Amino acid sequence: MPFPAERPRRLRRTERLRGLVRETRLVPGQLLYPMFVVPGAGVRREIPSLPGCFHLSADEAAREAREIEALGIAGVILFGLPAHKDPVGSEAGSDDGVVQRAIGAIRAECRELLVATDVCLCEYTNHGHCGLVDAGEVRNDPTLELLARMAVSHARAGAHIVAPSDMMDGRVAAIRRGLDAAGFADAILLAYAAKYASAFYGPFREAADSTPQFGDRRSYQMDAANAREALREVRLDVEEGADIVMVKPALAYLDVIGRVREAVDRPVAAYNVSGEYAMVKAAAARGWVDERAIVTEILTSVKRAGADVIISYHAKDFARWAA
Ligand code: PBG
Repeated sequence: MPFPAERPRRLRRTERLRGLVRETRLVPGQLLYPMFVVPGAGVRREIPSLPGCFHLSADEAAREAREIEALGIAGVILFGLPAHKDPVGSEAGSDDGVVQRAIGAIRAECRELLVATDVCLCEYTNHGHCGLVDAGEVRNDPTLELLARMAVSHARAGAHIVAPSDMMDGRVAAIRRGLDAAGFADAILLAYAAKYASAFYGPFREAADSTPQFGDRRSYQMDAANAREALREVRLDVEEGADIVMVKPALAYLDVIGRVREAVDRPVAAYNVSGEYAMVKAAAARGWVDERAIVTEILTSVKRAGADVIISYHAKDFARWAA
């Protein structure tokens, strides 16, 4: 007879007790904050689809990075809006590209902050796809070399972590080979391993100006209906040399995060993406949800599901609340 001997409420009576038996804790040191860097100097423009996030030139990004470091957030992940786009995304692998310059500026300002970079062509190509396009199709194998070159140039600029998000087959192996051959054996590879074709990326595409100009990303990103396939993608990325594997988006894929956590011995990251952030911001601005409570609940749930690392636009707010 469980009741009356069993009384789970006994452990919920006070905050001290709840804190004593709390299973999941999240600290700013487990978060990465996404930043969008643009050419020029002195640029700090709020992104309409991501209120509270900014387009920043390298100097402003470095200033912001200092603040992020002081908040105890583990690091930043950089996305670039290049000065020029072309069919092959030339600026992506250029040593004086927009991200490469921002890495340098941030590393010069911050001693400990981790600098990660998104490795993908979609912000750099005029067609907005994540790989090379030929006869209306996104080509896999010819894209790999460009991704490797991009990752190496990020590492050369000082990135600690490179994070391929393109979903081409074989990119992790190509990037690992490229990094090792160029002398960057310590560069960490965080693979967007299970990245779904998702409507939750809407606000990001406006922020990064990376909307595909024809078609969509479903020939390379995963079908939202599939979970077993996520385990396959993760296994392949681990075999190819990923140090950390990511599931993206987070909130609608907690089951996938949980299953990946069970399946691999690598750290698991989850990306709390732009659409997840924008929905919370929009509802909070109308007074329909309590922003602090709902963000804490969402991020804690992603952690509870099995994520060791969370990428979130809420990172700065969360760190301030945690202080
Ligand atoms: C680039 C990339 C995207 C995101 C991260 N890297 C967009 C996409 O794949 O369309 C989405 C991030 C977000 O929505 O916050 N491939």
